[in-house]
Amino acid sequence: MRIIFYTGKGGVGKTTISAATGIKLASLGYKTIVISLDVAHSLRDSFDNEALLIAQPTEKQIQIQENLWIQEINVQEAIVEYWDEVYNYIRSLLNRSGLETLVAEEIAVFPGMEEICALLYINQYVRENTYDVIILDCAPTGESLRFVSIPTTLEWYMNRIFKLERNLAKLAGPIIETVSSVPIPKDAYFQNIQNLFNKLEGIDTVLTDPKITTVRLVTNPEKIVIKETQRAFMYFCLYGLCIDAVIINRIFPEGIDAKFFEIWKQTQQQYIEEAENYFSGVPIWKVNLFDDQIIGETGLRRLGDILYPNLDPAEKFSEQSPYQFRKVDDVYQLVMQLPFLTKQEVHLTKHGDELIVTIGGFKRHVALPRSLASTKTTGAKLTERQLVITFQ
Ligand SMILES: Nc1ncnc2c1ncn2[C@@H]1O[C@H](COP(=O)(O)OP(=O)(O)OP(=O)(O)O)[C@@H](O)[C@H]1O
Ligand SMILES: [Mg+2]
Repeated sequence: MRIIFYTGKGGVGKTTISAATGIKLASLGYKTIVISLDVAHSLRDSFDNEALLIAQPTEKQIQIQENLWIQEINVQEAIVEYWDEVYNYIRSLLNRSGLETLVAEEIAVFPGMEEICALLYINQYVRENTYDVIILDCAPTGESLRFVSIPTTLEWYMNRIFKLERNLAKLAGPIIETVSSVPIPKDAYFQNIQNLFNKLEGIDTVLTDPKITTVRLVTNPEKIVIKETQRAFMYFCLYGLCIDAVIINRIFPEGIDAKFFEIWKQTQQQYIEEAENYFSGVPIWKVNLFDDQIIGETGLRRLGDILYPNLDPAEKFSEQSPYQFRKVDDVYQLVMQLPFLTKQEVHLTKHGDELIVTIGGFKRHVALPRSLASTKTTGAKLTERQLVITFQ
């Protein structure tokens, strides 16, 4: 089984590319599902398919064609299915605080719930081996990063806080309730969380296994978009996910002579080169701007053939993460895989949260995690295949 994330800044083309990849995979014979994780779903619109018009509202996975399903995660539905007790408890808390019932119901969907719901489905498909490939059309970058950090955070919560809270509620609950108007959660609430956690168990291993899960970053050749892609690249590496392709979308094609686009073309060229430099080691796929919006099967097929001319989208296009962050004896280390470099002098310059590594004619910008932004680099060691940089 394969899980492939398509993520990137808002509007870069994630949904369109996910849909095109789904169609391509299905035509290659893979049983495929494309799942939209964005709250503002547009996956249906992208397919613009007749099957969607006749689909029943209760159908979660809608079959588009042979081998291809789509699913837009619906939080309200998932709540009923997975965590009624938790939701009811939070709603009752909010209700007591004087909020209108409808508002309380809206707010009781706390941030991260969408992502957890999606993770529940994904884990279920993995356990039951329902599909050959799961394509995830992610929300803009920030949210997808939260998505991949949820399993770790949950695990921590369950091990450190959860047991304590549950015991406290059991022991002190009846006493507190006599003096306070705040309801103490019943044990069913804790049981519900425990059940959820059990359903999520194992998903972190699945997401960080590069044989199963890879991330493809979609970007556009513009400064602000490329910058965000670099940060996303670093954060996915930090969480241990393997990025196996970067897709530069909406490149102006040759043959547009209009003077109006002259500067645009130079700008795009500059940021394509920058991206090639920054992401070297990871395959970069380029897609031109089409002469119209890409909607419906014909357009999506055309896009799929451009993206994967002689390629199987289910393949893994990069094996090892080019960066790893680790902590050894209280010292943070950044390990860069540079198999193509021989021993030379290494120069490091740090501007805030950006590290510039220069080795001979080789230069690379590395966006650093927030916790390293305020540190100093204290050394760099280049072995045959790796550069290890230490921070203090
Ligand atoms: N290469 C392209 N040529 C022409 N139009 C494109 C191209 N790529 C995407 N589009 C169009 O751009 C619009 C936005 O694309 P899409 O919805 O896939 O972006 P997104 O990254 O999913 O956005 P959001 O962040 O809102 O989810 C769509 O109308 C799509 O048809
Ligand atoms: Mg989208």
